[in-house]
Amino acid sequence: MYKYKVSILGTGFIGLCSAVCFADKDIMVIASTHNEKKAADINEGIAPFYEEGLQEIMDRLKNTNLNIFRCITDPIKAVLETDISMITQGTPMREDKSIDLSFIESTAREIGLALKNKDNYHLVVVRSTVVPGTTRGLVAKIITEVSGKKPGKDYGLCMQPEFLAEGRSIEDTLQPDRIVIGQFDEKSGIMLQEFYEYFYGVHLKNCPILRMNIESAELVKYGNNCLLSTKISYANEFANLAQLVPNVDVTEVMKGVGLDYRINPRFLGAGVGFGGSCFHKDVNAIKAWSKSKGYNARLLDAVLDINDDQAIKIVDIAEELVGDLKGKKVSLLGLAFKPGTDDMREAASIRVVNELLKRGASNIVGYDPKANDTAKMELGDKIQYAQSVEELLKDSDCALLITEWDEFKKLSPDDFKNSMRSPNLVDGRRIYDFKEFNKLLSFRAIGRI
Ligand code: UGA
Repeated sequence: MYKYKVSILGTGFIGLCSAVCFADKDIMVIASTHNEKKAADINEGIAPFYEEGLQEIMDRLKNTNLNIFRCITDPIKAVLETDISMITQGTPMREDKSIDLSFIESTAREIGLALKNKDNYHLVVVRSTVVPGTTRGLVAKIITEVSGKKPGKDYGLCMQPEFLAEGRSIEDTLQPDRIVIGQFDEKSGIMLQEFYEYFYGVHLKNCPILRMNIESAELVKYGNNCLLSTKISYANEFANLAQLVPNVDVTEVMKGVGLDYRINPRFLGAGVGFGGSCFHKDVNAIKAWSKSKGYNARLLDAVLDINDDQAIKIVDIAEELVGDLKGKKVSLLGLAFKPGTDDMREAASIRVVNELLKRGASNIVGYDPKANDTAKMELGDKIQYAQSVEELLKDSDCALLITEWDEFKKLSPDDFKNSMRSPNLVDGRRIYDFKEFNKLLSFRAIGRI
């Protein structure tokens, strides 16, 4: 009855958002997870994490057609009952900072077990971020060993990197700026391209589909995340240069640079540095991979070093304003790695807290509109947690803006002056008007003195 039946193996941001978007466009989807509670929630129509627009689609699917989307805990069954399987498992960072492919490995094994008992041609698509060589050298190798079937003959194989940013996963799924398909063979690539032509219909008009070999597609994803990280560290390098000269503002400098049509202004925002589950993990993974092949990726070393140092820079500025931080109340405005999420993975706030503790600050208080609970899991009792901006700023000696939530953008110099013991503010995301705040407060910002 359905033209396409797809199994999605892994129900994180990428997996679940892709799954519901496909199902919403008349594609039958079976998602699979080993987490029973998560599967039950999804089947109840409850999104297991917050992502803009996700719950609405899940509500719609629940109310319209129960057969088009379901989540099960048996990946083999999911593969057997569909024609295309997408691997959307996480590839976390190991202790030594290299990539952990264990979830990919076990999923490939499960696909192999299913294909052993499946006669029809089946397309396997790796969507997870994996270092070059993984799809062919690990995924296909395991599937072939376990199933006895051959890629390019009995089953198709593609690698299609995803470019979804947290908080925009649904929007990015529905409006991609390009689709990259790494194909094992022509037949696999054509099949995946036709699937997307069906899914997007006319919306695909302005979206190029690039077909290439599997390893190139694997590297496109790293090329993307490494360049975005490099742009941020580049802006931060210039923030540090701007701080050498009075009245030079990195925000204006980067605006001037970004308007060059060859560059573009996005991801040139200087500040306290990038965080999140992707940039650190991916830059480190490709660095470790290249080192294992005998090449030292020096530019990427610098990208990470500059990023880590931004936490030191903001604390330096705080000390310039306040002096010794021992015994002072230091308030952190925002803890999540970016606004719109409660995700604390690799958040800049963690590095800032560690630096503050190193310098002897012991009265650190944080407040985040969404991430107080997740921050507690990450930072524990290294800091205290306020329940509102008012409580955060009350009797404070120094405030550091770490995450640019809208709630913080609305604060005026008076809000700081009226609550703080001594109104010292450092803007780590460049959201405040420098001249206005500098006139009324003891105010400094990254990238400007
Ligand atoms: C990133 C990429 O943007 C996605 O394209 C990619 O698919 C995803 O990783 C992934 O690999 O799965 P994400 O980590 O969700 O997405 O978040 P971003 O919006 O890219 O922000 C990352 C960090 O960079 C945040 O901490 C943000 O504050 C920081 N940032 C961003 C800056 O410091 N300056 C900027 O100008 C922009």
